Parts: sequence; structure tokens; C-alpha cells
Amino acid sequence: MPFPQFPPFFLFGTATAAFQIEGSTNSDGKGVSIWDTFTHKAGKVITGENADMACDTYANPERDLALMTELGLNAYRFSIAWSRILPEGRGQVNQKGLDYYRRLVDSLLERRILPFITLFHWDTPQALQDRCGGFAGRDMADYFADYAEIVVKALGDRAKHWITLNEPWEHAAFGHLLGTHAPGRRNPFAYFRAAHHQLLGHGLALERIRAASSDARVGITLSLTPIYPATEKKKDVAAAKVANQFFNDFYLDGIFKGSYPDPLWKKIGIARPRVGPQDMSIISRPVDFLGVNYYSREFARSAWYVPFLGAWVDEVDTGGKEAVIDGTQYTDAGREVYPPAFYEMLMRLKEEYGNPCMYITENGASFTDVLEDEKVRDPLRISFLEGYMDAAARAIEDGVNLKGYFIWSLMDNFEWSSGFSKRFGLVYVDHATQQRVIKDSGYWVKEMIHAQG
Ligand code: FCB
Repeated sequence: MPFPQFPPFFLFGTATAAFQIEGSTNSDGKGVSIWDTFTHKAGKVITGENADMACDTYANPERDLALMTELGLNAYRFSIAWSRILPEGRGQVNQKGLDYYRRLVDSLLERRILPFITLFHWDTPQALQDRCGGFAGRDMADYFADYAEIVVKALGDRAKHWITLNEPWEHAAFGHLLGTHAPGRRNPFAYFRAAHHQLLGHGLALERIRAASSDARVGITLSLTPIYPATEKKKDVAAAKVANQFFNDFYLDGIFKGSYPDPLWKKIGIARPRVGPQDMSIISRPVDFLGVNYYSREFARSAWYVPFLGAWVDEVDTGGKEAVIDGTQYTDAGREVYPPAFYEMLMRLKEEYGNPCMYITENGASFTDVLEDEKVRDPLRISFLEGYMDAAARAIEDGVNLKGYFIWSLMDNFEWSSGFSKRFGLVYVDHATQQRVIKDSGYWVKEMIHAQG
């Protein structure tokens, strides 16, 4: 298959998150985050591992930056650990934390790699969890905006691309509804409050960031999961519509339309979060770009027993194994590899949300990679990337305003409650020795970038 072709000035990057790579969780005055707490509780991480070391990036960032240079990447999305900047989440600033990220940005710029900085990738300072319940508490929106301003005042002279939040749906749903992520709550009321307060924090931060850095470009990253009806039955089609609103449109409509979608809003009844009179206009302040994280589509069927939604949403069950079922490939996280749904989703963003400037801020796959003779052969990841990047290139040809593509991830890292068991990297990492080996997919990306006009 020929390499997908992208327009001039297209950005090719990889994405990471602080908690998943940095390690050094107690160094240089860092405070405790909810993920530090969560991963040290028995039974929360399926492998029993923690991220105290992770990829050891905080201690040695240059090793990873050199890999990006080797791969020919021209952009990098990473996140800042809030608790390195404000160990208590608010109040006293830790200069060493700011210095670390300032050095990181400088090294990236020296290497001609454009930094895209995520301000919140799920690692709420524990002190704010204790104080107001994290994002389930409304005060958190203000604390977040204060923190954002501190960071942008310190780095905004050199970094210009800011992402307020990463995947508010996942943080709200896994952390507050299903309990599989930190802070480990299981409460539908907390879910909707965390969803709304994150968006409110995003809107408040947006204004503070622009005031601190007049040429900043600010956006938000949403994970978008198109929901298809499991059958053509009317009730499953209706279930898919509500589920789509729950997963996607709640966030998209909030940001781009300043309202939450019906019939979802009606359905959730008493679980509705309190929405202040100004909230929706704050949330819908114009963004400079939308960050899209895309992994797979899912299927919905009508299910009376699911509270509030009345819909059950699932992937095809592969038992968590990578598999081929009826000719369709699944990753080892059980996710279907189906690029046409990605193309359709990009077209929907163009048609229904005014074709905003977009970046794919995450897309990638985990497969059971093995290191043999200093090589990692990962043809499945290569064909995954070929398929999705090709779909993106087609969407651009069809008018979608897409400006860059960040692959998840630069290297195998700590995959939240799956520990190190899921390998998403272009670079293989042996976490015991911290040895790095570029996978075949990494070399494919390098050649693909090289082959652009
Ligand atoms: C996304 C997260 C990212 C990583 C990938 C695999 O939902 O944003 O941190 O875990 O999934």
C-alpha cells in the first residue's frame, strides 16, 4: 500500500501523558495525585503494577526526545502533571516543576518539534480530591483555571498550543461512574457533575490562557466513539442515538452549540448536574481547534435495565485478545479495527459542527509485541496506521479541516488500570531495564513522513 499523503505543513507527532511516562512521583517537590493513590491500592491495577518508575522520563527526558528526532516527528503532545506545579493543587507554586517543563519545551524547540501541551490528563492533585471531590466538585473548575494561568504565564512565551483537558468523558465515566480509574467512584450523579465541571473548567481556563498569552492557540481533546445500532430494530436505533449523545454530543454540543443534547438531557432527569446561568456561554467560548482521540466505534442496543440511558453499549467481545472475527481485525484491547467509521466521524464533525480546525490528538493500537533479536515485528500496527491515516487523508481531500496527527503513543507506557500489559508504542520499552527499541511501525512512520511531498 502506498503511504498516505497529507498536505504541506501537516503535523506528525506522537502523544503521551505525564502519569503514564514520567515516574519520579516524589521528586523535586511533586505532590500526590489521585493516580498515585489509586495505583497503590490493592486490586485497582489488573497487573498489580504501579507507575512509580513508568518510562522514567522525568529523570531522563532527552532519551525520549532523541527517539522523536530519530523518527522524524515534527510535533509532540505531552501533558503536565498538575501536582508538580502545585503540590497541593492550589496555593504554593513549585518552581522546580515549572522549570522541568520549561526545559522540556526548550529541548523540543531546539529539535524543531512543536509542543502541544495538555494541561489535564486525569491526574487530579490528591489534595483537591480531598478538598472538593475533584471534578465532581464545582470549585474544581476555578482551581483548574488558576492552575492553567500559572502554567501559561510561565511557558506561554515559548509554547503556543494548549489543550485544556484530555477526554473528559473517560475521566468522568471511568473515574466517577464505573470506578475503574482514579478516583474510583461509582455514582451517576458524580459522573454528570464531573462532566459538566470539567467543561466549565475548560471554558474558564480558555479565557485565562488567552489573557496570559495573546498568541496562544487553545483547544480541548475529546475522545469520540461513534455508536452504531447493534441491529436495525427501531429501539436499538433509538438506543444508539441516546448513547451517541452520552458519549459524544454532550461534549461536542456543549462546546460548539452551548447546550446539552435532547433527548439525553430529558432522560437523565434527576442526575442532571446543576448548570449556572452563565455556564453554557462559558463552556461554548470559541476554541481554536478540536483535538480528536479516536480508537474505535461501538454498538448499542436497547436495555431497560441500564439506569438513565436505557442503552447498553459494547465492543464485540474478543475476550480481550487480538483476533480476527469474520475478517475483521481486533486489537489486544478487543477494539475493532474499522477505519470507515473514523472517516464518517470526521465528516460528521465537518457537517454538523462547522468544520473546526482539528488535530487527531490520539490514535493507535495495542498488540502483543515481542522483542526478538533486537527487533519488534508489528505488522498489525502498521496496517492499523495505514488504514486510519488513509481514512484521515481521504477526509482531508473531502474538505475536513485536519491539520495534524498524533499517534498514541511514542512508546509503550503505563496503561492506567491495565498497567504495562497493553503496548501502544511505536517504540518498545522493557520497563525493568528501560531499554528502548524502535518497532517496525516506528520505522514505517519514519518512512511515511519522509515520503511526504
Ligand atoms: C486514551 C487515553 C490515553 C491512553 C489511550 C490508550 O483514552 O487518553 O492516555 O490510555 O487511551
